Amino acid sequence: MVEKASDAELKKGFRTHLKQTRGQIKRLDQAFKRLKVKPEGTKCPAIDGIIDEANEIVGEIDDKMVLNAALIAAAQAVEHYEITRYGTLVAWAKLLGRNDVAKVLNMTLKEEKATDKKLTGIAKRKINRKAAARQRKRPDAVERAENSMLVAASGIPAV
Ligand SMILES: [Fe+2]
Repeated sequence: MVEKASDAELKKGFRTHLKQTRGQIKRLDQAFKRLKVKPEGTKCPAIDGIIDEANEIVGEIDDKMVLNAALIAAAQAVEHYEITRYGTLVAWAKLLGRNDVAKVLNMTLKEEKATDKKLTGIAKRKINRKAAARQRKRPDAVERAENSMLVAASGIPAV
């Protein structure tokens, strides 16, 4: 996504969150250590589906501005998924009396929420408008661009 984004702010945002994600993996290790549980890898069909969908969308969009809007939509689908998972884990850790673990995971939850908010801000402030303006400038491509935005929007959870 860092490579595909053509807006400097969006590119920087993706890069920042990539760094944060590496820190989040360390926090997961901390949580497992506190719980005295050995972490194991597992398949996650839900996130695999979200990633597959994002790759599909990216492959279907030629226009750079529309692509930026679609990248935000796809990234927010990932963030929303992460928010549900970390939100549940924090709640369960608290319920089980593991406030130490809840505290570690809550740091990640806050980062995910902040990232989602930041993406909404970038989209609303400029990217979505620029993508929509692109359609108007190229009437021959209106239908294609509209379809691209619809495809991108279908990846957004209805919240
Ligand atoms: Fe994230």
